[in-house]
Amino acid sequence: MKDITRRKFFLGTFLAGIAASARGALGAAIPEGMRLPGISPQAAAKSARPLIISSANGVNALGRGMDILKSGGDTLDAVLAVVNVVEDDPNDDSVGYGGLPNEDGDVELDASVMHGPTRRAGSVASIRQIKNPSKVARAVMERTNHLMLVGPGALRFAQAEGFEAMILLTDRSRLAWLAWKAQTTKNWAPGLDSPEWKEKLSMILDTPERLAWASHIRDVVLRPPTGTINCLAVNQKGDISGTTTTSGLAWKIAGRVGDSPIIGAGLYLDNDIGAAGSTGKGEENIKIAGGHTIVEMMRKGLSPTDACLEALHRVARNYNNDKRKLDKFHIFFYALNKDGVHGSAALWEKSYDGKTRSRYAVHDGSSARELECAYLYEGGSIED
Ligand code: GLY
Repeated sequence: MKDITRRKFFLGTFLAGIAASARGALGAAIPEGMRLPGISPQAAAKSARPLIISSANGVNALGRGMDILKSGGDTLDAVLAVVNVVEDDPNDDSVGYGGLPNEDGDVELDASVMHGPTRRAGSVASIRQIKNPSKVARAVMERTNHLMLVGPGALRFAQAEGFEAMILLTDRSRLAWLAWKAQTTKNWAPGLDSPEWKEKLSMILDTPERLAWASHIRDVVLRPPTGTINCLAVNQKGDISGTTTTSGLAWKIAGRVGDSPIIGAGLYLDNDIGAAGSTGKGEENIKIAGGHTIVEMMRKGLSPTDACLEALHRVARNYNNDKRKLDKFHIFFYALNKDGVHGSAALWEKSYDGKTRSRYAVHDGSSARELECAYLYEGGSIED
């Protein structure tokens, strides 16, 4: 990972001063001739049912989903119980309440659900003011003859269904947005005639509590995150459900839609085979229909980890495997199969911070834990 301080950074002195083998992890046997290049962590091969997995940001909520699975509840109830915790969390600024807004300061959310036993799906995109878009996606699935609602129509539908409209910006996400504006335009920073001209953002983070956010705000201004939580579950019987929910790319153009609400990209499952989802740069996933690709690879016999690696190979192929372009973004895939074998693979060995390993979260009935993802390339991604 290249040092963050080497990137162009115009926040002035204020922020600067403050602040393997291709055998899948836990994978099933891979047919000869189908092993894929990529590096997988070594782990005991084991399947478990019930099983619930998520992106790493769901690790503290997976227990809720597992409780539902163990008591014989529905797999869709289980995955939604997990992601709703993260959607409600003001400190996770990649999802739901507190999610980072678009360039206009409006929080726009995308989400999808799939229910394996009934083979149904629902999704919403660019929905504002509703903190649990995953629940709205479920309502679209269960209460309409449609699959996807977007923008103002999705909001009107949600309100008709009794969802409360609210302001989704928190103090921290609002200040992060103001910091981003101060970086991108001179108009939203103190003028030449101000004693704070060079300080730029000292007026924004003007209390000890706000000052404590400086490092995080610097990161999200420098490296606009795509965040997202994906959660997949299989129960004792082998029924499967999944959901993906996000506030999408920070500072995006209003109306930008990522992969999370796209059935076949940010989420896909077939109750006969397994499920897959993604976090990271959605545009790259949509171009390879990653969720569908992974499930179809599992249908052909690949382990979940190798199926995720195959999706990453397709992402990399779109750039002729040119790491100077691929290191401008990050993307993760997650998968489980009907037998309760799970896996995940990331484009880069390192997570967004460029230091820790890329990880995902698993609860197999005993405890929730984070596991290292397989990955395509050593090191980490950078931004321009
Ligand atoms: N993967 C989330 C997004 O790109 O919006």
